Amino acid sequence: MRRLLLVPLAWMLAGCPVDFQGWGGMKQQPKALPYRENTFFADERAMRQPPAGTVPRDRRGKDRFFLTGRDTPDGGYVETIPLTLTTERVESGQRSFDIYCATCHGVLGDGVAQVARNMGLREPPSLVDLPAYPDGYYYDVMTQGYGLMPSYADKLTPEQRWAVVAYVRALQASQRARLEDVPPEARPQLEKEGTP
Ligand code: HEC
Repeated sequence: MRRLLLVPLAWMLAGCPVDFQGWGGMKQQPKALPYRENTFFADERAMRQPPAGTVPRDRRGKDRFFLTGRDTPDGGYVETIPLTLTTERVESGQRSFDIYCATCHGVLGDGVAQVARNMGLREPPSLVDLPAYPDGYYYDVMTQGYGLMPSYADKLTPEQRWAVVAYVRALQASQRARLEDVPPEARPQLEKEGTP
């Protein structure tokens, strides 16, 4: 008796071949697909435009300088990072830099990386020997891309991009630092470890 029951049960579990009315038909329910026509809307497009003035959630309350790295009237670059700098922020910039930038610009930002060596067309430059660019310039390069370098706006949020700028500044400072640049209380530690 038990074996007899198992046969129809196995048949049902294997995927019932009969399409019962209103059952198994969920695959064919009406839905809006990207780039498809949709007569429900006046413009007959399934994909909707956000209402005018819509601001993405991560941009709420942020000003133009912060989002673009550029000053308003003349479009010049923002001079300094528009965020309070903390150790955590610089360290988060380091994490992003090591993931997204170090592959090409080197862990020290000096342009020494295997990828850089193999990039025939144009090698990623050292970031520690650049002219005195304002902070907004670095932010803008990450946001818009620069020549052969792609934009990182889809990988790093505006906060993360500014944190990377902070870390690039730290790298620049570290490459040219003298003992006198270090706070007096931290100097003995460095002297003990030995500086190159
Ligand atoms: C795939 C390799 C690659 C990665 C990854 C990369 N870059 Fe670049 N970057 C380049 C190349 C190549 C150039 C030079 C582009 C050109 O001249 O066309 C460049 C240029 C730049 C410049 C402009 C330098 C100048 O001369 O003005 C900055 C600043 C910069 N990169 C920062 C970054 C930062 C910050 C990151 C991480 C978010 C990053 N790059 C990730 C390859 C890369």
